[in-house]
Amino acid sequence: MPDIDFAAWRARVDAALAAALPDAATPPQRLHAAMRYAATDGGKRMRPLLVYAAGTAFGADLQALDAPAVAVELIHAYSLVHDDLPAMDDDALRRGKPTVHVAFDEATAILAGDALQSLAFDVLARAPLDAQRRVEMLAELARASGVVGMCGGQALDIDATGGAAITVAELERLHAMKTGALLRASVRMGAIAAGADADTRAHLDTFADALGLAFQVRDDLLDVEGDSASLGKTAGKDAAQQKATFPALLGLPATRGRLATLATAMHEALAPFGAQTDALAALGRAAVDRKH
Ligand code: IPE
Ligand code: IPE
Ligand code: MG
Ligand code: MG
Ligand code: MG
Repeated sequence: MPDIDFAAWRARVDAALAAALPDAATPPQRLHAAMRYAATDGGKRMRPLLVYAAGTAFGADLQALDAPAVAVELIHAYSLVHDDLPAMDDDALRRGKPTVHVAFDEATAILAGDALQSLAFDVLARAPLDAQRRVEMLAELARASGVVGMCGGQALDIDATGGAAITVAELERLHAMKTGALLRASVRMGAIAAGADADTRAHLDTFADALGLAFQVRDDLLDVEGDSASLGKTAGKDAAQQKATFPALLGLPATRGRLATLATAMHEALAPFGAQTDALAALGRAAVDRKH
């Protein structure tokens, strides 16, 4: 496999994020500082990497991928700020730092999340892209962020917290919505930027659905097996809060088996493309193998 320069893509999206975020010295400084605190300095940048990997695999220029890469990371950063709030998961540690509501205050954290979300759509709406593709990307990101995607999944997550009964099928749907939707939108926005055909998009959707579920199953596993220092967030929280997770429902061996099945599904979905999708394949493996 050729060496893929993920570090260069990370640096690229980091620079674009820094340029898109409001200046911390401009009023309202506290809000701006909180937004920058949440979105810069940390994070694996998995969603932007998926935008770049899917887009370049099918011929898009990196310049056409910067706006969707920034936009999806801003939505993700907002989702984490709100996920950590006392009313939700009540977490104090994120990306190795105090969470936004701890470092600032709760009102600022709520507003920072809100404003990160608005900024995501602002960046995408104003991007120098073909108008048709821009609208398609906006629709994709809006849908993935809302009631049939991340927000809806977070609502199901809260409903299932505290020991409520849930089936494996319901848990898969919850995970596909709260986490899978944004990962899938990342791949789809890359495909839109590249003008990929319907058959290609169908294969990419199959890949992205497996990756999205695998990413959250791995997250659940890491909450059990990882430690707070290497995760950069508090380990063991899911069991403490009686969250609906794969390890809680199936146990560790079956959860690992599920991850292996999803890895095979990802591999098979990309098989028709050969080396062209090496970067996507590597990100799929990272979703399954990641240590943080
Ligand atoms: C954490 O996402 C929340 C989930 C959706 C599982 P990431 O594991 O991508 O978090 P960062 O961006 O690397 O901090
Ligand atoms: C978060 O799921 C999914 C989001 C939409 C933010 P988790 O609650 O498991 O994420 P972590 O473990 O706090 O990162
Ligand atoms: Mg949560
Ligand atoms: Mg959480
Ligand atoms: Mg988690």
